[in-house]
Amino acid sequence: QWGLETSWIGKELHHYDQVESTQAIAHRMAKQGKPHGTVIVADEQVKGKGRMSRPWHSPKGKGIWMSLLLRPELAPIQAPQLTLLAATVLAELISHYSELDPKIKWPNDILVNHKKISGILTEMQAEQDQIQYVVLGIGINVNQEEDEIPEEIRHKASSLKIESNKTWEVQTVIQHILRLFEQTYDQYLDSGFEHVKSIWEHYGYRIGEEVKISTMKRSWKAFLVGIEPDGALLARDDSGNEEKLYSAEIHWGEG
Ligand code: BTN
Repeated sequence: QWGLETSWIGKELHHYDQVESTQAIAHRMAKQGKPHGTVIVADEQVKGKGRMSRPWHSPKGKGIWMSLLLRPELAPIQAPQLTLLAATVLAELISHYSELDPKIKWPNDILVNHKKISGILTEMQAEQDQIQYVVLGIGINVNQEEDEIPEEIRHKASSLKIESNKTWEVQTVIQHILRLFEQTYDQYLDSGFEHVKSIWEHYGYRIGEEVKISTMKRSWKAFLVGIEPDGALLARDDSGNEEKLYSAEIHWGEG
């Protein structure tokens, strides 16, 4: 049915009409010993999860709500690279299959015309120096119309359809994502992060610019230098101090 042209990803693909969250299902399957590359897709999520415990609006048939179960032989510190890798895959696809100019806002948001159309949520289970598994959740607003985007986020969120004026076929987009993800992932394991890093920086939003950053503790203005091999964002403040960030919010708008 899914006609995937992949060798290891999606060999097990579980499709649901409605779930609370594909993340939760992926965690459960990980614990049941499901293999590396297992894919969970749902038409609708009633309790979709975003980063920082925010809800992720996932209406029926309007987007891609999918989680990938990965069992990478990597150190936990390398896990963020997988998030960055996934973001490059989404940016490349949007750019290849449309006239749109996607940007990646660190670490994981895909923006089109300054509005978020996709987010990635990576959750890792690790023990000491070994990753047990990673659940990589991908949410893409595909075919929502403007009035189907919750009003309170309409100024900063959009969909592929709204931005491109065409309807996208969800299943086809999923096929493309899985194929390119597999190819990029295999290449990353073979030859390292450099290639991903350069694609990421090509699409990177506000890299080389001044932005406002905030963490739980503080909020400040900084110049975004780029990303580090461990997936951190490198930011330089007004006094020239460089800092590696692993978790922060980049605010755009007036910058
Ligand atoms: C974010 O930008 O905050 C991340 C959003 C991640 C949403 C996806 S949709 C599929 C998977 N299941 C979830 O509940 N969340 C992720």
